[in-house]
Amino acid sequence: MTARISVMLALICVFATIFRGEAQSKQQQDKQIKIGLSMDSLRVERWRKDRDIFKKHAEGLGAKVIVQNADGDARRQNEQAENMMTQGVDVLVVIAKDGVAAASIVESAHKEGIKVLAYDRLILNSDVDLYISFDNEQVGYLQAEYIARKVPQGNYFLLGGAPTDNNARLLRKGQMRALQPLIDRGEIQIVAKQWAVDWDPRDALKKTEQVLTQHHNQIDAVVASNDGTAGGVIQALAGQKLAGEVPVSGQDADLAACQRIVEGTQAVTVYKPIHFIATKAAEEAIALAEGEPISDATHKVNNGKIDVPSILLTPIPVDKDNLDEVVIKGGFHKREAVYKTQ
Ligand code: BGC
Repeated sequence: MTARISVMLALICVFATIFRGEAQSKQQQDKQIKIGLSMDSLRVERWRKDRDIFKKHAEGLGAKVIVQNADGDARRQNEQAENMMTQGVDVLVVIAKDGVAAASIVESAHKEGIKVLAYDRLILNSDVDLYISFDNEQVGYLQAEYIARKVPQGNYFLLGGAPTDNNARLLRKGQMRALQPLIDRGEIQIVAKQWAVDWDPRDALKKTEQVLTQHHNQIDAVVASNDGTAGGVIQALAGQKLAGEVPVSGQDADLAACQRIVEGTQAVTVYKPIHFIATKAAEEAIALAEGEPISDATHKVNNGKIDVPSILLTPIPVDKDNLDEVVIKGGFHKREAVYKTQ
């Protein structure tokens, strides 16, 4: 009899322990922070790095990350963001396809008490909680200033990025800051200004061909706003046997751009250490989800509605002289890949 009672007591203890364990792990799951990462697209090389580093870092800190790729469609991005809210994310990190259209993501998220971090691209006319990017105006300044040192006189073509991306405008602003004194002194002339729809290299190729035709190939320098579009520009120049003759800028330190710098067809890129922005954003997203104050948003950037607390990281211009030091030693690309020796 006593033996039977002891067995029953032991069983009760076992069940109680199992039940308590399950309850605890359910509690842990409930506490785990869920981050929704909403991406414009993965077409440009850097975004895969952004995604992978962000996810790995956030997961290393105990969060769960859901990633959605809108593949260049602003409406789809808004739907995906709504969908992630339904899935119960605690915070949204948005790389906006369209800085204006994404404002409604912020509005819906705030109705649900979900904070929003604008990653790399500012979300306009909204109460977005935090903006983390590189100093885009400075990127534009560095691009144009480099080209102006190479070509202090002559005809310039400015090829901007997607008009729907606030960064494209900031880049143009920085470029003009570098070029205006030379224009005022009559040393350079901007003979054409364009925007590449969706940052599409094919649009960049087409627009450069048109500009070359219109100006009878009398273009001495091209300030292109990223490496993808620089690729299109250089293809158009190559068609006129001008690749390598006309300096072209870019940004991102894409592998293809680094290879063109080695070959001499692209003059400069602007390197932005993706590791910094992605890890910082992962940490800040968790802080936002936990309702902690953001202590290191040292900048304020006006988005048309508010001064958004911002963290702006520093970009670095890269040409053939510091490519090894910055891009290869920094581990961004392998030497064999950049120099095509593998
Ligand atoms: C980013 C660039 C990128 C471009 C196209 C910009 O907003 O800052 O790094 O090349 O978008 O994706």
